[in-house]
Amino acid sequence: MPVTEKNGKYYPPEEFSKNAWIKSYEQYQEIYKRSVEDPEGFWAEVASEFFWYKKWDKVLSYNFDITKGKVFHEWFTGGKTNVCYNAIDRHLDTPLRNKAAIIWQGEPEEDTKILTYLTLHREVCRFANVLKKKGLKKGDRVSIYLPMVWQLPVVMLACARIGCPHSVVFGGFSAEALGHRVIESESKLLITIDQSLRNGRAFDLKVSADEAIKDAPACQSVIVVKRTGAPCPMTPGRDTWYEDEMKADDIADFCECEQMDAEDVLYLLYTSGSTGKPKGQVHTTAGYMIYTALTHKWIFDIQPETLFWCMADIGWVTGHSYIVYAPLVNGTTTFIYEGTPLWPKPDRAWELIDRYKINVCYTAPTAIRAMSRQGDEWPNKHPMSSLKLLGTVGEPINPEAWQWYHKNVGKGNCPIVDTWWQTETGGILITPLPGAWPTKPGAATFPFPGCVPRVADPGVDDETKRGAKLEAGKTGHLCIEKPWPGLSRTIYGDHDRWEQTYFSQYPGMYFTGDGCLVDADGYHFLQGRVDDVINISGHRISTAEVESALVLHKAVAEAAAAGMPDEIKGQGIYVFVTLKLGIEPSDALKKELIAHVRKEIGAIATPDKLQFAPALPKTRSGKIMRRILRKIAENKPEDLGDVSTLEDSAVIQNLVANRI
Ligand code: WTA
Repeated sequence: MPVTEKNGKYYPPEEFSKNAWIKSYEQYQEIYKRSVEDPEGFWAEVASEFFWYKKWDKVLSYNFDITKGKVFHEWFTGGKTNVCYNAIDRHLDTPLRNKAAIIWQGEPEEDTKILTYLTLHREVCRFANVLKKKGLKKGDRVSIYLPMVWQLPVVMLACARIGCPHSVVFGGFSAEALGHRVIESESKLLITIDQSLRNGRAFDLKVSADEAIKDAPACQSVIVVKRTGAPCPMTPGRDTWYEDEMKADDIADFCECEQMDAEDVLYLLYTSGSTGKPKGQVHTTAGYMIYTALTHKWIFDIQPETLFWCMADIGWVTGHSYIVYAPLVNGTTTFIYEGTPLWPKPDRAWELIDRYKINVCYTAPTAIRAMSRQGDEWPNKHPMSSLKLLGTVGEPINPEAWQWYHKNVGKGNCPIVDTWWQTETGGILITPLPGAWPTKPGAATFPFPGCVPRVADPGVDDETKRGAKLEAGKTGHLCIEKPWPGLSRTIYGDHDRWEQTYFSQYPGMYFTGDGCLVDADGYHFLQGRVDDVINISGHRISTAEVESALVLHKAVAEAAAAGMPDEIKGQGIYVFVTLKLGIEPSDALKKELIAHVRKEIGAIATPDKLQFAPALPKTRSGKIMRRILRKIAENKPEDLGDVSTLEDSAVIQNLVANRI
């Protein structure tokens, strides 16, 4: 049955709504009302469906108002549980025991692996015992630098099992970026791989890992997964193979779960903010588990037979929450694909959907745009009749990409959930519930139960209105008024920064850093970042990171980065560079600087355009005028306003005239 369109709204098929967890807007309203009027009662009821060693004493304590003291929120205080137990052990006495927990498809066609809940249990227990043998104890951090291999969820769950917070670092990050994260988190152990495979090429991850930890004395052991078997440097006494560790005679098939406090740390995940180096968001045990599991179940309408494919990389929060934790806690089969969706042919993803009969496909607008550029003939070769629901995440979706996804992938039959959330929020906050109401292209629609959003007046025209709720149709800053269980608790080692970043702009509320408007029907339309974070292909890079990388180069005196529109990636990086006195700009130097940023941060931070500038425009107090640079990068010189009176008008004219 098709999705039907009326006046720009797309209604779910009746059959879909009838069988969905949340069937109507009225049902949602009732649940939503309860969730905000009695959050403790609501979340306690949700939490009761999980396994606890000991029930909590108090559901929620919090202070969101920075003017009244320390900002914090704490959930299920006094409760004891374990996320790995909930994701695996809990299912073993049920018919789920022999169900596929993970279906893994390697980039080479013949590489596949299926782990049932039972076989996953054995693998995770054995690896947990390997970690213990290495001397790891509850609270010790473990860094993980792995691509999308099936061992990645195994090692994450093993860490969760024994209470070691993991810090997964995306396999595309450079040695420098990994090194920073290993040092910051004071990880005792690193898990990596000989090589990763991508688009038919092999990348030497172990070589990068070695370089990364040369200045990380706390990191005393490295466990290496064997993927390609290519020769790979191993440091005796420090490095061992995953496969050898796992088959050792003294490794038992069972490992007891650590009884974790509800607020014990589950993991750290580094993400870019508007200033400084990436910071480790801290997610804790019970709240994160419950929030991600409930959002997954209702938003993706997870049924016992659902085969769920989230195409993100596990190195990002989307993969943590919706490839690993939520699906397994919900007893779902999670599909994991090692490679990129366009290789070796542009219909690899569609072919996999048909072959495995995937029911839900969750990806990013940037991937949709890249796939649509290959032409409609690729999805049109595949009926994809198993698909019931599609999802997007990571950036605003443009209406063309939305329509293409709807027609060519969903074949007009699948509702689309445009889910808005962040690394900090742990799980999805603003989203359609697919059976309950019609969507509009580009709208994340309504808040999930428990979430109280406010489009706040930034107070530009009238400072006294700052923070007030804006009327429909006006764009403001998206804030969240009340805590929810998935929100990060702090930035690792820097609580002050967590408070300053999220709670100082609008006292009493969590500030998201995103622009948003609500239309006359109450639908939320996200408008992109309002701070200095650039969103490239749905991945966050701060202008500050790119700038710090550039000024490390000996030729650079000063640098500024800004986002620029990019048809595929959403945004690209435009950099302005002032060279040190006596150094001449050249194409060779330009290439060298671009390669330098790539080496410092990773391929995703590669500048798309680099403009040499004799000087950068500054305010009287010496701050770079970012607003102006952003407009130049966006090629909107007409929006600069009147700059003729500025001291720096000649500088600006020079930049505009020489824009690339
Ligand atoms: C953006 C990814 C519009 C937003 C889960 C946010 C979105 C940032 C959407 C977080 C969406 C995410 N519509 N924008 N549906 N989803 N964003 O931390 O700017 O990698 O602040 O988390 O992505 O990116 P992050």
